[in-house]
Amino acid sequence: VILFSKNTAETLQNWLDKNDYDKVFLLTDANTQQQCLPQVALIANHVISIPAGEENKNLNSAQIIWTELAKNGASRKSLLVNLGGGMVTDIGSFCASTYLRGIDFIQIPTSLLAMVDAAIGGKTGIDFLSYKNFIGTFTNAKCIIINPAFLQTLPQKEIINGWAEVVKHAIISGYTLFNEIQTIPDISNLDLWEKIIDNNIQIKTQIVEKDPNELNIRKKLNLGHTIGHGLESFFIASNTITKHGYCIAAGIVMESYIAVKKQLLPEKQYEEIAETVLRIFPKMQLNNQWFDEILKWIAADKKNHHGKIHMSVPAAIGNVIEKTEVSTEEIQNALFNYFSNANQRKF
Ligand SMILES: NC(=O)c1ccc[n+]([C@@H]2O[C@H](COP(=O)([O-])OP(=O)(O)OC[C@H]3O[C@@H](n4cnc5c(N)ncnc54)[C@H](O)[C@@H]3O)[C@@H](O)[C@H]2O)c1
Repeated sequence: VILFSKNTAETLQNWLDKNDYDKVFLLTDANTQQQCLPQVALIANHVISIPAGEENKNLNSAQIIWTELAKNGASRKSLLVNLGGGMVTDIGSFCASTYLRGIDFIQIPTSLLAMVDAAIGGKTGIDFLSYKNFIGTFTNAKCIIINPAFLQTLPQKEIINGWAEVVKHAIISGYTLFNEIQTIPDISNLDLWEKIIDNNIQIKTQIVEKDPNELNIRKKLNLGHTIGHGLESFFIASNTITKHGYCIAAGIVMESYIAVKKQLLPEKQYEEIAETVLRIFPKMQLNNQWFDEILKWIAADKKNHHGKIHMSVPAAIGNVIEKTEVSTEEIQNALFNYFSNANQRKF
């Protein structure tokens, strides 16, 4: 169930009244504890808080959550409410889905990325051995409560971070949404934000419902992610601070470039995609001595099979095709093109 709300506490309370939980646990990170918890705090029996940041989406934090649940008497009839960005919704849902072989959980995403993507679709997980989301489950939330007003305390760089998934969804969906997302709306325009978030959720849920376990069409949602995750893992392993969305945005441009070179995507549409992305996400800088290293991370992606690299690439704005086999040479060319033309758009 996905509920849009202008009053999160009331929506949550209404939902709890209709259900029978013995205890309600609420998970935050240090930031959402400060910025978002005051709006719903009274409802929880017990608040669990973990340190903020992707580097904490790990077994250590999972252990803190399981321990807090156990020590405070969480039973099979208890509920965990995850209040935060994708880091909190991912690890919280992972812990809930494994604690006592699974207890119910609710997602209340507070970042744009979590509202349009992370909290939707039932993928839970933590990072492990430097690999993103390496341990996890497919488990659906009982309910997802969306209140765009949470975005008003989110730093602008985090709004931009989430925007990469909005652009991705628009490329999957077609020109109607693609034309609407050429600029990022002002944060005071909550009605417009609600419309955009709603559109994005619909695109994702329609795909996920048809293929919950990512056997075929759900792979479309990986657009930008094969190269994007490779970049992100590379940056994490080299202790460089990076953001998921910025890597995905770069991945979208490079994977679209591969599609042009394969003569799947018309050049004009590549230009439109690249312009839309690069207007908001300026090119990253990286020396080509690192390309082999990035390729290793891309090849290690958990979605590859039998040593072949597969990715989802656009054949048009509104038509992303999944499971396209791509050679390392094609990826090298795309990396070279993106990173060596840092200030020019032409390819
Ligand atoms: N499960 C999935 O299908 C899926 C899909 C996409 C991404 N993800 C995961 O999502 C994570 C990234 O999500 P994210 O970008 O939301 O990261 P995040 O949860 O780390 O949030 C980013 C920062 O914003 C802060 N924050 C969140 N909401 C706030 C608010 N309302 N006001 C002030 N600060 C706030 C957080 O504390 C954090 O510092 C990654 O771990 C990624 O793997 C999962």
